[in-house]
Order: sequence, then structure tokens, then C-alpha cells
Amino acid sequence: MNQSSFLLCANWKMNKNPEEARTYIQQITQLVPKEKQNNFIFFAPALTLSALRQECAHTSFGWGAQNCHYEDKGAFTGENSPLVLKQMGATHCLVGHSERKQFFYEDEILIQKKVKALLKHSIQPVICIGENAEERKKGNSFQVINTQLHGILKNIEFFNSICIAYEPVWAIGSNQPAKSEQISDMQKHIKKLCESEKKNLQFLYGGSVNEENVHTLSQISGVDGFLVGGASLDPQKFFNLSQT
Ligand code: PGA
Repeated sequence: MNQSSFLLCANWKMNKNPEEARTYIQQITQLVPKEKQNNFIFFAPALTLSALRQECAHTSFGWGAQNCHYEDKGAFTGENSPLVLKQMGATHCLVGHSERKQFFYEDEILIQKKVKALLKHSIQPVICIGENAEERKKGNSFQVINTQLHGILKNIEFFNSICIAYEPVWAIGSNQPAKSEQISDMQKHIKKLCESEKKNLQFLYGGSVNEENVHTLSQISGVDGFLVGGASLDPQKFFNLSQT
């Protein structure tokens, strides 16, 4: 990894019970030196967050939820409060993951509300965007990203940098990451969009990052980290991604 601040974000999705989360963090704590721990962020399912919080209390790892509501409290059965996330000590939260869009019909208006709620509580949102296979095939990728980004970012005040995870939907869980050139082109495009709004960009790539391809992917200039699903589930394998 070419930068000392390169981020490795684990998206566990709906995997790991509290005991498994504890064991995982205990194991990876043994592997990652203290001064590198803040380069690792863990996104756990809501039912596992308390265990994650307890284990991470002895570390410098970042951690957070995979989704939250935009209101602090109220009649929203089944939702996660951003205020409670803050009270628990979460540092980050995923927003707008493509699986949330696909299975829970999230759109840019809703995602923007969530981003605003997180910023209000000084939790760093990791905003996921990406085109699907059909949009890429039709040559509409850049246009789709423009629409997604504009819908989410318009009229938002960011005090820190904006953390965007570019995750082409076709690359997620497919064992076929985007090509280096595709990622690089998208990074430049997104950076330009953020610069026009005078915002610094922290650019993550996600989609089938694993031990075999991490070396190649980490050479792409402008990539500040990875969002990793399948290859983050085993602590040793996830740690190995940092050893390239
Ligand atoms: P993957 O998932 O690494 O298993 O492709 C990435 C993600 O969905 O964030």
C-alpha cells in the first residue's frame, strides 16, 4: 500500500453474531499494530454493534453501522438511530449501499437525509455510489454517477472531506473487480465533481477486492482505500489485504 493512511473498510453485511464479532476483533487486534489500527473500519450488522463497540474500545479501529435512519428517534420500527450510534461511539456509517437500493428501495433523496443526519452527529458517512451492468453497457456510467452524486450532495455542508465508495454494482460479489482504468477514470471524474463543489474527496473502491487482486488495485493513483465485503469476513485474510 502506497500511503500510510490507506483505508481498509470491512462490510460484513448480514454476517457475524456478537460472539463471532468479538473473536474476529480479538484476532485482528493481534495482527494490526496499534498505530495502523485507525486505517481499519468495521461495518457490522446492528445486532452486533454492542459487541463490536466493546471490543474496539481497547483499540484504535474505526467502526459503525451499515445503515441508519435520518431521524434521531420516533415511530420508525426496525430502524437505527444516528443519535444512538453517536452515543455508542461509532466513527463511521455506510449510506446508500447498492443492496439497500436494490432490496430496500433507497433513493438519493433518502440517502441525502441520512448523510445530513450523520454529519449533524459528526459521524463520517461513507457514501456508496455505482452504476449497474446495464448502465455500464449502454455507456451511461458517468451520467449515472453524476445523477447519484448530485442528488446526494447538493446543498450539503461538509466540514471534512467527503468519503465516497465507488462500487459498480456488477463488480460486487462477482469475483470480477472493475478494471484499473475504469476505476481510475471514475476517480478522476468524481474528484472533479467534488472539486467543483469545493470539497475534498476521500475515494474508496469496492467490488470483489481480494488477496489476488489487491496488489494491482492498490497501484491505482487517487484510490485512498477499499470497501471490502466477502474478503473481510476472515480476520487473517482481511489483514493480508494491508500487506501488499
Ligand atoms: P464484495 O462486496 O467485496 O464482496 O464484492 C463489497 C461491498 O458490497 O461493499
